[in-house]
Amino acid sequence: MTRLAVPNIRGNLFDVTGKVVAITGAAQGIGYTLSEGFAAAGAKVVMVDLDADKLETARKVIAEINADVGAVATDVSVPDAAGKIVDACKALGGRVDCLINNAGIMSYTDPRTITDEEFDRMIKINLKAPVQLMRAVLPEMEKQGAGSVINIGSSWSSRASVFNQSGGGVDYCAAKAALQSYTRGAAQNMAETHVRLNAIAPGGVDTPMHAHHRDFLMEYEKYIPLGRMTVAEDLVGTAIYLASEASAYITGQTIHVNGGMIMVD
Ligand SMILES: NC(=O)c1ccc[n+]([C@@H]2O[C@H](COP(=O)([O-])OP(=O)(O)OC[C@H]3O[C@@H](n4cnc5c(N)ncnc54)[C@H](O)[C@@H]3O)[C@@H](O)[C@H]2O)c1
Repeated sequence: MTRLAVPNIRGNLFDVTGKVVAITGAAQGIGYTLSEGFAAAGAKVVMVDLDADKLETARKVIAEINADVGAVATDVSVPDAAGKIVDACKALGGRVDCLINNAGIMSYTDPRTITDEEFDRMIKINLKAPVQLMRAVLPEMEKQGAGSVINIGSSWSSRASVFNQSGGGVDYCAAKAALQSYTRGAAQNMAETHVRLNAIAPGGVDTPMHAHHRDFLMEYEKYIPLGRMTVAEDLVGTAIYLASEASAYITGQTIHVNGGMIMVD
């Protein structure tokens, strides 16, 4: 096992220039904004989404910031998605420096009536697909001797969701908790390779995911200590930090980005 290098604090610790970063769920919301942030920071971004038209529109906007951008139109939960994403990263920059498992779905399920189909779909997209993508990129990162996986969890992994007031989202909360737990375990497995895995747990973020109950989401704003609803831009700095040398000694962690919301629980 090689000894972990000490960060060069006289360089730009947060530099992600030229890093190849795959971001799932990149056609809108958090994934799109992360793509924008990484492209602006000089990274080569592979945008992944199942909505091919919206993805292409988004890719064109990102390409105006940084021409080194690729796109993979796929459902992340189908068996060949992982291979396509790795291939696209290699085509763009010859390696995979960072995978951001962001694609996900929300639910409004009730524990008394949730169907097997609803539960299976949630697990398939929000947990199994990230696991499959990690399985594909981790050996590549191990060969490179470096890499960073960032899994997008949720504050609702450690608490009931605000929508749970009516019994909703139980499978969502459970899948996000499992993803954060998997991140911790995999980080331990991979530590000797210096490949790192961490999670970001956002609070409620004002994205299209909440379009049909936005008023309810915004009601929640008054409980956020920093005084504003989370927007996708609030997550970019943490993601760049976790992808960069600045976080070289950080693995297996979940960083909560929620304006201090959990403090008041
Ligand atoms: N918005 C929030 O309040 C919030 C809070 C915590 C965590 N998150 C998590 O952040 C992630 C992004 O959320 P968002 O608010 O940007 O959502 P969003 O619904 O606005 O965007 C999600 C994107 O993922 C894509 N997608 C969904 N399923 C996919 C699949 N199977 N394969 C490929 N692409 C798929 C969609 O087409 C869409 O472009 C999700 O994992 C979500 O659970 C969101």
